[in-house]
Amino acid sequence: MTVPDAPARAGLELRRRYTVADLGVFTPDEARRYVQPGNGDPQTDVVLAWELLYRLEPELYDRLASAERLHRGVVGWLPRGADRIVEVGAGTGRLTLELIGRARRVVAVEPAGPLREILRRKLAAADHGERARVVHGFFDELPLPDDHADLVVACSAFTPAAGHGGEAGLAEMERVCRPGGCVTVIWPNNLGWLAARGYRHVSFPGPMSVEFGSCDEAAELAGIFYPKAAEEVRRRGLRTVPFEMAGINPPRDLAYRILPCQPGGDDPPGPP
Ligand SMILES: C[S@@+](CC[C@H](N)C(=O)[O-])C[C@H]1O[C@@H](n2cnc3c(N)ncnc32)[C@H](O)[C@@H]1O
Repeated sequence: MTVPDAPARAGLELRRRYTVADLGVFTPDEARRYVQPGNGDPQTDVVLAWELLYRLEPELYDRLASAERLHRGVVGWLPRGADRIVEVGAGTGRLTLELIGRARRVVAVEPAGPLREILRRKLAAADHGERARVVHGFFDELPLPDDHADLVVACSAFTPAAGHGGEAGLAEMERVCRPGGCVTVIWPNNLGWLAARGYRHVSFPGPMSVEFGSCDEAAELAGIFYPKAAEEVRRRGLRTVPFEMAGINPPRDLAYRILPCQPGGDDPPGPP
């Protein structure tokens, strides 16, 4: 069924949490990327509301991300035994913690200070603090040298929009990746855009659910993030919520590109 006001309602509960008065939390570099001229209102711009969530209620975001686990196939697909991995938009480490066993060094780039703090805390608790480094940066301005990593990856972070990657961000990810290395976008929001830039699609099948720690947590977080499913989650006392019920596509897809071994050469065939 088509809901006529669906776009206007997207993220309604999340948008309600913030106002223009909250925009002061952004640094000038963040405001330049996230606040659209003429539409700097989180009550109407859900993308802006997400950026405020990361900075004003990072623990709430972390509870959601911890429940929305990636398909095991996605993590299993990533190359093992890399020397260096760079993750961009690492957040609170849903993927980062999986990466530390796959490379000698991992650099996690994350612009939101409160998310970097949570990620540092988790890495310290996991006793891998030396192996992984958490740094500030943006897709379109990565604080890393050319050809630095074997794998450059982003999970639920890269989009074609300029503030969240775009052409400049993809070019930066490819600059930081060594020749013959792999650039991977996990849980992409626009496969067609990436396919037009030489990225191949991999999808892993099977049912997937959001796995909350308790029924109460499921009811609380569904009320904010999956409002259409919230009533059913509450009524049935669900702890796990199928992604279809939540109304979001499951984290089962990735898009990747193996960079040519020589400048101007063809992309090598096959997965890494
Ligand atoms: C939905 S969260 C995903 C976080 C993490 N990768 C995960 O899967 O849990 C999106 C992340 O992208 C980050 N982000 C937003 N804009 C960015 C930019 N321009 N450059 C790099 N990261 C960005 C946010 O700060 C946030 O950590």
